[in-house]
Amino acid sequence: MSQILAVGIATLDVINIVDEYPKEDTEMRVAGQRICRGGNATNTLVVLSQLQHQCSWAGVWVDEPDGRTILADLQRHQINTDYCQVEKQGKVPTSYILLSQQTGSRTIVHHRNIPELSFQQFQKVDLSRFDWVHFEGRNVIETYHMLQWVKQQQPDLPISLEIEKPRLGIERLFQYADLLLCSQSFAHHHAYYNAADFLRDLRQQVTDTELVCAWGHLGAYAMDMKGQILHSPAYPPPQVVDTLGAGDTFNASLIDSFCRQQDLSMALHEACWLAGKKCGQVGLEPLSRAKP
Ligand code: FRU
Repeated sequence: MSQILAVGIATLDVINIVDEYPKEDTEMRVAGQRICRGGNATNTLVVLSQLQHQCSWAGVWVDEPDGRTILADLQRHQINTDYCQVEKQGKVPTSYILLSQQTGSRTIVHHRNIPELSFQQFQKVDLSRFDWVHFEGRNVIETYHMLQWVKQQQPDLPISLEIEKPRLGIERLFQYADLLLCSQSFAHHHAYYNAADFLRDLRQQVTDTELVCAWGHLGAYAMDMKGQILHSPAYPPPQVVDTLGAGDTFNASLIDSFCRQQDLSMALHEACWLAGKKCGQVGLEPLSRAKP
């Protein structure tokens, strides 16, 4: 069991389940609706806590009814929120999501109008308590200071960094990660349609970092410190019912494997397996490790 801190967001997810993705300017009835806590960092923590780690979240929380729904869910998973920045005004970030039953795809429209976690707030975290810190690649300038701070205060504390979306200057963060987790859409944004090419070119920018890139139905690819490319196939469930949070589950499993000193190849396979399992069920519960 490890002590894990994740820095990033918690959201309210309003998930509308539709038979198929609608055409623009039409009207349809939903087949069902779920309202729950979401957000990459906290989704990852919810999975890690089911894998028996002790988890803490540093992010922004708003003291309003939906904020309290979020807090209750985190408490249910024993996720510590002592380091959060509490806002008295505003509304928690909210995602309006269309989940297509035909394909399992999720389309997210996100609303956010509250401040991001400040470096000043992050400095209050007692980093000496933790075995691992995970960052979402967002809020680039403040995150840059946080990463530098971690390296300065606790140089041996391993850092994972999720790069999901392109953001101005985000490449400046890469050098601080021990484990860099890039999305396929980030690679596509940079015109890479082959994961190995993407990882080889990424290696030119960062040397001392394990590089991982999820690649949809083709599974995931990684590059170890020696420059070797590794691959795991996807482990699709019999029926894809819900892909929301699959990437967050994949990241959680990788962090779990690294905390247990597994090698990168094994970590990659387990992460694809757990992400596949997640796609075959609604939501993030229950999730547990692959049987050896
Ligand atoms: C899934 C998710 C949702 C959230 C959105 C935020 O990965 O974390 O729970 O609404 O992404 O970008």
